[in-house]
Parts: sequence; structure tokens; C-alpha cells
Amino acid sequence: MNILLTGGAGYIGSHIAVELLHAGHHVIVVDNLCNADAKSLRRVAEITNCEPLFFQTDIRNEAYLRQIFAANRIEACIHCAGLKAVGESTQKPLEYYDNNIGGTLTLLKIMHKYNCKNLVFSSSATVYGAADTLPITEATPKKPCTNPYGWTKSMIEQILIDIQHAAPEWNIILLRYFNPIGAHPSGKIGENPNGTPNNLMPYITQVAVGKRPQLNVYGNDYATPDGTGIRDYIHVVDLAKGHLKALEALSRNCGLQIYNLSTGNGYSVLDIVKTFERVNGIAVPYKIEPRRPGDIAACYASADKAARELGWRAELGLDDMCRDAWNWQKSNPDGF
Ligand code: NAD
Ligand code: UD1
Repeated sequence: MNILLTGGAGYIGSHIAVELLHAGHHVIVVDNLCNADAKSLRRVAEITNCEPLFFQTDIRNEAYLRQIFAANRIEACIHCAGLKAVGESTQKPLEYYDNNIGGTLTLLKIMHKYNCKNLVFSSSATVYGAADTLPITEATPKKPCTNPYGWTKSMIEQILIDIQHAAPEWNIILLRYFNPIGAHPSGKIGENPNGTPNNLMPYITQVAVGKRPQLNVYGNDYATPDGTGIRDYIHVVDLAKGHLKALEALSRNCGLQIYNLSTGNGYSVLDIVKTFERVNGIAVPYKIEPRRPGDIAACYASADKAARELGWRAELGLDDMCRDAWNWQKSNPDGF
């Protein structure tokens, strides 16, 4: 299939590109490189021996998108492009709404114009907010979001639901990612955050490589077994493979579907630190700090619906995630 992959130079997008190319798809990447390095796509080519087609443009550039659709018979879109820094979104809400929602609307208009009505959207666990019961399932009610980034995901979901409702020939899958970590086992692509990492695993790997003195563990007084926050971490390669399964479902005319991409397992911050130290034989010094504002105690989700309907389950465990995250970081201490 000819697949348009927005945000394909980024962390998750580059891993999706690898899986798509391995499966024999033609991949057309659109990325404005606002949070990525084009070298990631060169690395994708090294891993797969196939070159994705790359257009450096903003997805809000309607004229450019139109040219891309006119020149390539695009059959489906995987839409990962977006801004994703929660803290920054509270400082620059307009930028987030414009980029994420504006970009999606432009993409949808052009898809409609070129009669491409198959879409997989990168949504997030953030749309569940602080769920009342765990594990989260797709039937768990969405709660109000706590930041503009989260609202962009929640609002885009609603836009897509409304579009598919009005025009049932659209096939749209909302994939709600839990906490993607790790890297391709080759060590050639991985997460490459700008500045100080906000998320746990890139912070740990930067401590391990000596860029930062210690990890700050935000809170050890949560109502969890060791007091630190629990999350559902998923290997980015498993996550990427979920998109292949979603594409197959689009081809079966699935209509509108929502799936959690998670493992069902919750691990605490200290579980991650200890596993990372054990698997990689490297110390991660840490200090307990106050809770991070806006954090929840625990979040993990059932992926049974994806297993049942897509035939997808995460296959890699926490040891793999820690090993591959470190392999990427130590082979690329300064990123790409
Ligand atoms: P990323 O920043 O590495 O990738 C996003 C890519 O989109 C980047 O390459 C960026 O340059 C590009 N981009 C942003 N705005 C664009 C625009 N207007 N036009 C063209 N390109 C644009 O982030 P990621 O971690 O790979 O996340 C991919 C998607 O998954 C995002 O939509 C993100 O919100 C979502 N998501 C990520 C996580 C996570 O923890 N990483 C969790 C849930 C959902
Ligand atoms: C992040 C996103 C959220 C998204 C979710 C799943 C942020 C702020 N939030 O949150 O929008 O829905 O991933 O993709 O980016 N921690 C530390 N020290 C650190 C960093 C984190 O102790 O330096 C702890 C946190 O308190 C939390 C856990 O590690 O308990 C995971 O944090 P993080 O990686 O930021 O993920 P989420 O909090 O789930």
C-alpha cells in the first residue's frame, strides 16, 4: 500500500516507518522537522534497505499537501505529526491548538479531496485523564484533560468520530498510546529529546550516559506498593507493529474503532530504575523529590480489545525496553 506517514521523522514515526517498509509498504513521510532530525530517515533506510519518500513540509501547508496527494496514489494515512510537550502546551496553547488541530483539519480536507478515507491517528492515554478504575479499557469514560496538549488529542478524536459518523465510508482508527519507551534493537533510531527530557526513560538514559547527575523521582508517597508512580510502559517496536495491524483493519472496512496500545502491566518509577540497572549493569543514582504537579498515581490499561480484534499484543518486556533504550543512548550519546 502507499501510506502517508505524518511525523515520520520523529521518535514513534521512524519506528513505524521501519515496520511499514519491512512489510513491503511504500512509505511517504511528511515532517516539518520541528522536533526531529532528517538523519532518522537515513537510519530507517539503513535498517530496512528501503528508502521512504520524504517531503519536508508542515502539514498545515495545504498547497504542498495537495501536490503530494496529486503525485502519489495515497491509500491510507498514519497521522503522528503533532507537538507533544505537556508543559510547553500550557505556555503556548494557541501554538498547540493551531499545529495539532489545524494540521489535522488540513490533512483531512486534502484526504477528502483525493478520496483517501483510511486513517490511523496517534492518540494518547492522556484522553482518559485520572480514570476512576484500573485497568483502563476503551469503555472507560474520558475525563476532562488537564492541559492543552491533552485537549488537542481529545478534540481531534471527537472531530474524527464526527467525520466518520457523517460519512461512514471513512475507516478511522484511534490508537491510544500508553507510555512508549525503548528503541529499535539496532540502536540506530530512538528517542532524541530537545533539551531536558520531560519523560522518565530518556531522563534515565541521560543520567546513565553521564549527561545528568541523577534522576529526580517525583514523589514516593503515592498509594502504590513502593510509593512511586505507576505507568504502562510499552516498547516502541511493539507500538509500531500495532499500526500494521490497524492498517489491516482499515482494509477490512472497520469503520471507526478505538484501541489502547498498552501491555496491561503497571511498573513503578523504581521498578524501571532497578530493571534498567540490572539489565544494563549501570548505576542510576536518584533522589526523591516532591510530586510533579498534574501527575496521577497509577495508570495502566487492558489491551484485550486490540488482541481480540486486531490480533495484536505487545511481545517485548521491560527488560527489552531498558536494554534497547540504553543501546540507543550509548551508541548515540548526542542523538542523531
Ligand atoms: P515526536 O515529536 O518525536 O514526533 C512528532 C513529529 O511530528 C516530529 O518529527 C515533528 O517534527 C513532526 N511535526 C510536528 N508538527 C508538525 C507539523 N505541523 N507538520 C509536519 N510535521 C510536524 O513525537 P513522538 O513521541 O514520536 O509522537 C508521535 C505522536 O504520538 C504525536 O502525535 C504524539 O502526540 C503521540 N503520542 C506520543 C506519546 C509519547 O509518549 N511519545 C504518547 C502518546 C501519544
Ligand atoms: C506522559 C505525558 C502524558 C502522556 C503519557 C503517556 C508528560 C508530562 N505527560 O506522562 O501526556 O499521556 O506520557 O504517553 O509528558 N518521572 C520521574 N522523574 C522524571 C520523569 C518522570 O519520577 O524525571 C515519573 C513521573 O512522575 C511518572 C513516571 O515517571 O510517575 C512517568 O512519567 P512520564 O514519562 O513523564 O510519563 P507520564 O507521566 O505518564
